[in-house]
Amino acid sequence: SYFPAKDKGPDRSLGILKDGYNFARKRLQKQHLDVYETKLLGERAALLGGEKGAELFYDNDKMKRGGAMPAFILKTLFGENGIQTMDGNPFEHRKRLFLSLMTPEALDRLFQITVEHWERASEVWEKKRKVVLYNEMLTLLMKVSCEWAGVPLKDKEVKKRADDFALMIDGFGSIGPKHLQSRKARQRSEQWFENLILDVREGKLEAQEGTAIFEMAMHRDLNGKHLDARMAAIELLNIVRPTVAVSKFITFGALAMEEFPGEKEKVAGSEDYLYYFAQEVRRFYPFVPYLPARTKKEFAWQGYNFSEGQLVLIDVYGNNHDPRIWEEPETFNPERFRNWNGGLFDLIPQGGGDYEKNHRCPGEWSTLEILKASFQYMAQHLEYKLPKQDLSYSLNKMPALPKDGFIMKSVKKK
Ligand code: HEM
Repeated sequence: SYFPAKDKGPDRSLGILKDGYNFARKRLQKQHLDVYETKLLGERAALLGGEKGAELFYDNDKMKRGGAMPAFILKTLFGENGIQTMDGNPFEHRKRLFLSLMTPEALDRLFQITVEHWERASEVWEKKRKVVLYNEMLTLLMKVSCEWAGVPLKDKEVKKRADDFALMIDGFGSIGPKHLQSRKARQRSEQWFENLILDVREGKLEAQEGTAIFEMAMHRDLNGKHLDARMAAIELLNIVRPTVAVSKFITFGALAMEEFPGEKEKVAGSEDYLYYFAQEVRRFYPFVPYLPARTKKEFAWQGYNFSEGQLVLIDVYGNNHDPRIWEEPETFNPERFRNWNGGLFDLIPQGGGDYEKNHRCPGEWSTLEILKASFQYMAQHLEYKLPKQDLSYSLNKMPALPKDGFIMKSVKKK
């Protein structure tokens, strides 16, 4: 018997860099497994996949986040000691703060702000010979995100700040100089936000109740204390940074409207279809590859013995393409969401499980608002041609993106 299934021999850290989004899938799905052992970063790591694997990953009796995320990611992408690394009651208290920002009014406002910025940006693009959509989205969403969060951003600051955000979002996994740049970008961004948090607390900067900047500045922990200003800055970045990262899904969605005939017309024509399309973009295209946790205790599961403190990775991309979960997973088919039952462990591009008890992304609703506003605008109001370019993306390169960033020419508003 090949249970428990595992890689024998050397550490596979280089393998995961080489195989990217396919690393876990290759091991799990080929044998229809939910757990597979490998060696990563010098540790025995358990790869989890399938709906059952995801359910185990989000079982708080068995898994924790403390000590799971590698330092090189915390020092670039996420920030140290932020919500991603918390467990138990302090986690649930902090999580309610994030979820409280996602009211229907706040989400409507986000949709409106996004449309306004598309209007303005496309006027500028009309005057240019060509534009790179991904780059344009980074600055557009930087403006959207700051406006929504209550963060003041001067026009002449946008480029510099957006460049730092791009470094955090795209540079975290790189090696050498780019990794160091990514760390510096995080330090600069944290400092920027820390000063703003202090300004709000001292009444030097006006902030509206319900905005992220206000709520982060005024939040009290379980001991009734304000967050340390740097911590509040890190959590404010945890709102503004991923909102900018929605740029990737927009770029992939633009690609889908190009790659798959008829999609653009259907997106333009129906609000229901618009939503299915946004969901399918989140399922189909590669973004987050894996998420880490650690076991709280020793236990056996599906014939595999987990040890205490063991590193565990859930195969995020793999689940979104698992043939046991999705019919013809490699076909781009928004219609599959017409009758989707909203399972907690099937569509997991932004994590799974419960919003309040688990680390599932509190930004799923805001992501969908931005995507709907953007795809609708593109499909209904934007005409453009595509010059010769490389639209391909590789599953071997994390994070993934169409090679040339989706170049558009002869842009016209209609
Ligand atoms: C958590 C993905 C957009 C805020 C997460 C997680 C993933 C994710 C995979 C971790 C889930 C887990 O650990 O179990 C994404 C992707 C996005 C996106 C692919 C698209 C760009 C957003 C947006 C926001 C946001 C727009 C804010 C408005 C957060 C926060 C967490 C989180 C604060 C930590 C939650 C926690 O630890 O409980 N996201 N997200 N994300 N996301 Fe997102």
